[in-house]
Amino acid sequence: MKASLAIAAIAALAAKASAACWSESQGYPCCSSPNAEVWYTDESGKWGVENNDWCGIPKATACWAADLGYPCCSSTTRVEYTDNSGKWGVENGDWCGIIDGGSSTPDIPDVTPSGEQYTISGNPFSGVEFFINPYYTAEVDGAIAQMSDSSLIAKAEKMKTYSNAIWLDTIKNMQSWLETNLKGAYAQQSGSKKVLTVFVVYDLPGRDCHALASNGELLANDGDLARYKSEYIDVIEGHLKTYNSQPVVLIVEPDSLANLVTNLESTPACADSEKYYLEGHAYLIKKFGVLPHVAMYLDIGHAFWLGWDDNREKAGKVYAKVISSGSPGKVRGFTDNVSNYTPWEDPTLSRGPDTEWNPCPDEKRYLEAMHKDFKAAGISSVYFVSDTSRNGKKVDRKHPGEWCNQTGVGVGARPKASPVSGMDYLDAFYWIKPLGESDGTSDENAERFDGYCGHETAMKPAPEAGQWFQKHFEQGIKNANPPL
Ligand code: BGC
Repeated sequence: MKASLAIAAIAALAAKASAACWSESQGYPCCSSPNAEVWYTDESGKWGVENNDWCGIPKATACWAADLGYPCCSSTTRVEYTDNSGKWGVENGDWCGIIDGGSSTPDIPDVTPSGEQYTISGNPFSGVEFFINPYYTAEVDGAIAQMSDSSLIAKAEKMKTYSNAIWLDTIKNMQSWLETNLKGAYAQQSGSKKVLTVFVVYDLPGRDCHALASNGELLANDGDLARYKSEYIDVIEGHLKTYNSQPVVLIVEPDSLANLVTNLESTPACADSEKYYLEGHAYLIKKFGVLPHVAMYLDIGHAFWLGWDDNREKAGKVYAKVISSGSPGKVRGFTDNVSNYTPWEDPTLSRGPDTEWNPCPDEKRYLEAMHKDFKAAGISSVYFVSDTSRNGKKVDRKHPGEWCNQTGVGVGARPKASPVSGMDYLDAFYWIKPLGESDGTSDENAERFDGYCGHETAMKPAPEAGQWFQKHFEQGIKNANPPL
């Protein structure tokens, strides 16, 4: 048994804790593998034994502070305090964990934005550079630290060169991530070079009403709607107005409106949330939709959700109503396949018993049909951004509606503006849900356990939604299509 006295004495030496090798500060090396056998657990972490001595088992998540209820620092590297868990900085008036070894977490200069108002005209993804999310880069560095296969490491390194969206999934994370990343992108602009940052607005009251895996912090009630408006949307608006000389894309509340199209009758939680989803959208479209440097996309689920004729027709009505409720704010278009696994093209499928008579058995056919139907429903701006972070390889799910951490995942087409010729209404392929961040926990006892994450084709054991999932990442880069 590890002598607690010895730990206390050595801990008193404080020194240089590192998130990757946190046990060094206590005078012990880190174990050579994160999968080392656990012999003992204390408040600093898990301990293994190697060469007849204790070693600290490297933590699976790059953002070690998340386990303690704090965000990781997105820009600061200034150490205010060190304890057994690691180094702490301060951002937005709160503690944040510094991800060590962090050459990949660039120092974001403390700039005050100034510059001319930027106006997006046409496709916001075109003619701009895509900002690389430093948080994801740090997660990938954490993943690489757990790998030994050099060809896999080379693929992982490449992942750091692609952009993906930054999720503002709680008020606290919004406070940590929004301004620092806007600032980071701003600092990279020079002359006519514009740098685009893509954020996911994701904190509606009653979030994820038809599933459990991503239930949010705000509940479907008037008080939480008021908080959504004043503590979340208004704060985002304030920062967007400050950083007005750079392009920004907002992806709005994945899955929410699709739930209003199909799940109001079957799922009481969705009926309870309807009012808040509608009011939330009207409020945010009015605010963000009038900012010239911001383009917004509402989410339309995926082909095996709204692809059927009756669902598409109903969707046209719901989305047209939502967009006009936000007037004079404007919406550029829609996102599909967010966090989902449906292939972009699947020539093996056509309408029939295998597809449950869905005429849109892949995302391409889904967008072709949605484009027609939304235009027919009177929506004037119908452009799409398709999430290709998980659909490079057809996974062997039993039902195409499976959405949780699917075995056989492969990262898909790289983020790119106007990627398909002849489809001028497809603004971009983009990685909206980062590969390697879990879709939901497989722990049956967890509050947010959703049955889908226990299905046969869901990878297990899987951590909570949004947490780092090493196996998902490794499989996704091995199966990348096109290859990395
Ligand atoms: C989770 C969020 C997370 C996002 C990106 C969602 O499924 O609910 O908490 O930020 O995925 O990983």
